[in-house]
Amino acid sequence: MDLKPVIVIHGGAWAIPDHLAECSKIGVKNAAKCGYSVLVNRGSSMQAVESAVRVLEDDISFDAGHGAVLNADGDVELDAVIMDGKNLAAGSVSCIKNISNPITFARTVLEKTSHTMLTGKGADAYAEKMNIARVSRDELVTEHAIQEWEQYHKYKQSVTNLFNTEKVHDTVGAVAIDCQGNVSCATSTGGITNKMVGRVGDSPIIGCGGYADNHVGAVSTTGHGESIMKVTLARLVLFYMEQGETPQKAADQALEYMINRVHGRGGLVVVSKNGQWAARFTTKRMAWASIQDGVLTFGLNPDEIFQESLDNFS
Ligand code: GLY
Repeated sequence: MDLKPVIVIHGGAWAIPDHLAECSKIGVKNAAKCGYSVLVNRGSSMQAVESAVRVLEDDISFDAGHGAVLNADGDVELDAVIMDGKNLAAGSVSCIKNISNPITFARTVLEKTSHTMLTGKGADAYAEKMNIARVSRDELVTEHAIQEWEQYHKYKQSVTNLFNTEKVHDTVGAVAIDCQGNVSCATSTGGITNKMVGRVGDSPIIGCGGYADNHVGAVSTTGHGESIMKVTLARLVLFYMEQGETPQKAADQALEYMINRVHGRGGLVVVSKNGQWAARFTTKRMAWASIQDGVLTFGLNPDEIFQESLDNFS
């Protein structure tokens, strides 16, 4: 029997300033609608999460694709991962340049190579070979990213603490379950402002930036990459679910563990193999949106939940 599909989106966990609050909410809602329309038309969860993340990569409100933050040299280096819960196949790219939609490139790595991750020069050459659309650095860089970079240089705060300030921006992601019960995750990021050239964060690392397994569920994470990697945050959430916790409880426990163990903050979205979902964070804000049964649910501040009914998706 067909399952009711679900999509859950995040636009990054950080102290989103008021002037970016509205566009962040609109952005995650647009991405959720795009992914959900794939699902109600019997598309796969892989197609849904890729399509949703592309919407966020094209939206300059978010740190991914267009709008990505700048590294120490003022350049853009992008990371992304996509994972299929049906067979645990994953594709990821790290430190790539001049690409608008790293998530599609990650899916190409999954589908067309025998590898899981491509990086640096080799990734560049492969993108060229596969005719992945290229853009100039300037097309990806926004005024806001330049301001963030300049602020960083002015104040030079510790990066961990930055995750509860308005001086970082972070990551986008999606999880979904389709009518066939297959779960997938996708995560894409520009990383953290002023990162060292060549620094790779959690986002493209399986089990950290995302994980999907039809036996349990799917997770996409956001937050301080070095902390997320230390606790393998995405897999930790699924581990707690395997122990019998609900997605919300598992998410809260894993995020709490990350604070207690390594003083790291972040957020995540999760869907279980039964279609239960949660969007949780330990930063000041995280824009998120979900659609299930034609109902759009979204929020930005802790414990804030809004709902809208979507007649054209019932
Ligand atoms: N969570 C994104 C990063 O730290 O790179």
